[in-house]
Amino acid sequence: MTTIPVSPASFHISDKIASSVYEGLLSSPKWLPSWLFYDSAGSRLFDEITRIPEYYVTRTERAILADRAAEIVELAASERALRLVELGAGSADKTRLLLSAAVERQDTVFYEPVDVSASALVEAQIRIENEIPGVLVCPRVQDYTHDLELDSTLPSERRLVLYIGSSIGNFEPGESMLLLERVRAALDPGDCLLLGVDLVKEHSVLLAAYDDKAGVTAAFNRNVLVRLNRELDADFHPETFAHRAVWNAAESRMEMHLVSETHQTVWLSGIDLRVNFEAGESIHTENSYKYRVGDAEALVAKAGFAHEATWMDERGWFAVCLARAV
Ligand code: TRP
Repeated sequence: MTTIPVSPASFHISDKIASSVYEGLLSSPKWLPSWLFYDSAGSRLFDEITRIPEYYVTRTERAILADRAAEIVELAASERALRLVELGAGSADKTRLLLSAAVERQDTVFYEPVDVSASALVEAQIRIENEIPGVLVCPRVQDYTHDLELDSTLPSERRLVLYIGSSIGNFEPGESMLLLERVRAALDPGDCLLLGVDLVKEHSVLLAAYDDKAGVTAAFNRNVLVRLNRELDADFHPETFAHRAVWNAAESRMEMHLVSETHQTVWLSGIDLRVNFEAGESIHTENSYKYRVGDAEALVAKAGFAHEATWMDERGWFAVCLARAV
């Protein structure tokens, strides 16, 4: 009789995590996919990041929206009723600003958040319907990085798709183009896109935002290794990997790395993989591209939109662009 050894962990390991971790850690230089950040501990840590003093991104975009929500909604609607769509399950208080502005000009506002996570959508639905009377939430479980299909609209309506929070910056330039083209394909002419983009700025400001004093960002980055220990039965010692944030001027992006402080070998028993690290060797975990205003406007134009307006904060750190499907 032959017995085939099966590692017990392999029963609950998804192919997606196994294959991407395998590929990334056998590459040179090593990398890990950034979606690994967002398990429940990671999502909590990211929430904390949005409140740390150095992370200007969330606060700056929120201030622009708080100032301009009524104007944005009015311009986007251009005489019709507005239906809001959001890529991601609601950026909490930022989305609320736009929804409230829309409820001011029409009694009922349909809000269609699109997310892979059904539980995140349910949470967003309960929260928003409780907080903003007049909003009807129609959640859509979909991975918008692969497919996007939206509810049809009435002739009296127009869509405004929110892609805020600088999420576009986490895609490679080619991918972000594809993403915006996919959004355009799901829309009708006259529908709008509101894109939040983080801008190129003083490097010290960028570096501080991605390497805060309290170490929340470092914990967020290292949480990926904690997750691999749990989900792939790995034996990473996360404290032996330093969090490193780097400004890559040639690529116009912030890079996040985990750098092994010693020469060491890690065993990921769930996928039967042994990985060697030299002292100083890094795992590249994330990119956050920073745009110039003109680049962002050119990007939406290339994807089939007409650029209508851009709003910025006083320091010129963040831009919110409104573009209309042509
Ligand atoms: N979308 C966020 C950004 O690029 C994600 C993020 C913030 C992040 N801080 C981070 C990702 C640190 C990795 C490490 O701004």
